[in-house]
Amino acid sequence: MKIAILPGDGIGPEIMTQAVKVLNALGEPFEMESADVGGAGYAAAGHPLPPATLALAKAADAVLFGAVGDFKYDSLERSLRPEQAILGLRKELQLFANLRPAILYPELAGASTLKPEIVSGLDILIIRELTGDIYFGKPRGVRECPDGPFKGDREGFDTMRYAESEIRRIAHVAFQAAQKRDKRVTSVDKANVLETFQFWRDIVTEVHQDYPDVALDHMYVDNAAMQLVRAPKKFDVLVTGNMFGDILSDCAAMLTGSIGMLPSASLDANNKGLYEPSHGSAPDIAGKGIANPLATILSAAMMLRYSFDKAEQAERIENAVKSVLRQGLRTADIDEAGALRVSTEEMGNAVVKALA
Ligand code: IPM
Ligand code: MG
Repeated sequence: MKIAILPGDGIGPEIMTQAVKVLNALGEPFEMESADVGGAGYAAAGHPLPPATLALAKAADAVLFGAVGDFKYDSLERSLRPEQAILGLRKELQLFANLRPAILYPELAGASTLKPEIVSGLDILIIRELTGDIYFGKPRGVRECPDGPFKGDREGFDTMRYAESEIRRIAHVAFQAAQKRDKRVTSVDKANVLETFQFWRDIVTEVHQDYPDVALDHMYVDNAAMQLVRAPKKFDVLVTGNMFGDILSDCAAMLTGSIGMLPSASLDANNKGLYEPSHGSAPDIAGKGIANPLATILSAAMMLRYSFDKAEQAERIENAVKSVLRQGLRTADIDEAGALRVSTEEMGNAVVKALA
């Protein structure tokens, strides 16, 4: 069980320290090795995804990733910006299936900006295709506009595309995930306007024939955004493309009011995965010891479940997290009146204690 530990920037290193502590407390023979990534990779080796970091990630059985990005790297050219690290890892490791659960812990019902009755008991799984779509489609760039009313003007352009097998494999992931849940999949597209997503709809419908025990419905992305804030509990598994999934998963995360709590997994065809919190690097609070380490700790639990087939150890971590929430421990982001305000490190220690 070789784990590449990539803390990254901002609060990344602080939250990662806590997750590593929790993993070490499980008494499993993990082999962990760290490397620089994101802005830290650029500062140390001149690239957000230094060759040595990529090699470590490739050689490992799983990658635990903190977060990347910092204001000080915003002026770099695109290919050197911290975000390129995560995009590069997704592409190079072929991590096409992104699992983003949005779960509302009953203890945190008050943290959501939505009314408690709309979100209480929320448990949805967003499955975002992660290596295709307009994110990676070519050609792209800035060129002289070849036709139409703006012919001759400069234009920026990207390419939205999905190959049939790309759609098939993510659809299989979604239907199989639904089989372990409430057996309902909503496929989100823009089939009314885009060729790519009419094709997506057709292929998902075909794949569905292999899963008669799962109910499938289709929804346009604009309507899905509305339904997510209107009646989010109606969803079970939501599957969509890279671009729509980026947007809808942030929306779903906010339903829980605590993006600091949400883990994610990005898997390849063999369940090798990269695990990262759904939140970003929060450079404004870095080094203050107030970041919430629970999303990273829960990402480590997802790693145990999906890459190492250790569901029991995953549950031990998840139960320990529930236990510290029940005890009333809260970092700043989920703080409320009457709670026990703790630091990043105190939260990590409490989880380790609750494991025992
Ligand atoms: C995410 C992020 C990334 C994305 C950025 C950092 C490139 O927003 O993981 O959702 O757009 O995929
Ligand atoms: Mg995003």
